[in-house]
Amino acid sequence: MTHQAATALDVRLRLLAERPDDAAALVVPDVVIGSPRSAADLEAFAAGCDVVTFDHELVDGAALERLERAGHRLHPTAATVAIAQDKLAQRTRFAAAGLPVPAFRAVRGVEDLLAFGDDQGWPIMAKAVRGGYDGRGVWRLDGERAAFDLWSSFAHTGVDLLAEAHVPLDREIAVLIARRPGGEVAPYAVVETVQRDGICRELLVPAAIPPAVAAAAGALARQAAEAVAVVGLLALELFVVGDRLLVNEIAARPHNSGHWTIEGAVTSQFEQHLRAILDWPLGAPDLAAPAVATVNLLGAADGRDPRSGLTLALTDPAVRVHLYGKSPRPGRKLGHVTVLAGSLAEARSRAGTAATHLVGGHHVVQGER
Ligand SMILES: Nc1ncnc2c1ncn2[C@@H]1O[C@H](COP(=O)(O)OP(=O)(O)O)[C@@H](O)[C@H]1O
Ligand SMILES: [Mg+2]
Repeated sequence: MTHQAATALDVRLRLLAERPDDAAALVVPDVVIGSPRSAADLEAFAAGCDVVTFDHELVDGAALERLERAGHRLHPTAATVAIAQDKLAQRTRFAAAGLPVPAFRAVRGVEDLLAFGDDQGWPIMAKAVRGGYDGRGVWRLDGERAAFDLWSSFAHTGVDLLAEAHVPLDREIAVLIARRPGGEVAPYAVVETVQRDGICRELLVPAAIPPAVAAAAGALARQAAEAVAVVGLLALELFVVGDRLLVNEIAARPHNSGHWTIEGAVTSQFEQHLRAILDWPLGAPDLAAPAVATVNLLGAADGRDPRSGLTLALTDPAVRVHLYGKSPRPGRKLGHVTVLAGSLAEARSRAGTAATHLVGGHHVVQGER
């Protein structure tokens, strides 16, 4: 998706991919096969680039620092990536900057989990400090037994854990914001992210929150972008509790919560990221329609290929389908569908119908939003 945006601006991408059948490697002509966790691969790759950027955080942080010291331009910088890849560093940095975060503590032994549960009241949440995504690396602990079980499965793995208060959240939202090296920012409209089992299922814009809460979310995104000095796109995930907001986590790159911007905003997050890291003027982040709904296509249990439902999904001319070219596996994010409409109810229903044609009905999240 970044490549699509790069093509229009004649920006030439070079891609570091682990495997030739990685989704991006299927479309970017200039591919280097290597590992983002190998310092040697990163160095060889960066040698030919004007600017190095990221589409995930699973990169060797020490190697990034060395690249920067050797004069390579990294956007976001190694320091920003170091925070984005570490949930404990995020909590610490944002708390120090005065942003509201759930109560948290680092876990060095099971006694820390138990003390935190006693202190906050159960349930509590435990999280892998690094490497988690789509709810992998997030556990709800209902009491001491669960804490012991989790600890016994992690004590010897070298995975660092963080404990945090379980938040009785009403909804989850995200704010995408682009920032140029000089500090100029462009925030998008607040998006509601509908999650189930720790995985984002739907994106709904505008989020159904009062204008004052939306304004507060926008202000937090500006503060967060400053606090981590991001260059490029930042996605700020927030919990909504009544009319209060708590920071969940960030991603310092184009993010799933911004996939709606491809058709739903004047400038997509992918183009905006390129413009920001190249220090080019930012595009308008404004909405392109009154309402935008995006449904993530999660692989069906029967392993079907979403392409088998493509012509049926396309019978609704408003439906915009994005398939990532990944091999289908149950629960894997295989693509997404976006619909722009006059109302959120209509956009959501048409996107949901198309998603059902592509991967079956399991993506549907019940309930009024
Ligand atoms: N402290 C919490 N209280 C309640 N729910 C939480 C909490 N932390 C995470 N969750 C739920 O788990 C989901 C995934 O957690 P998150 O930290 O964002 O991990 P990931 O890196 O997998 O996205 C969140 O979107 C939210 O639905
Ligand atoms: Mg998350």
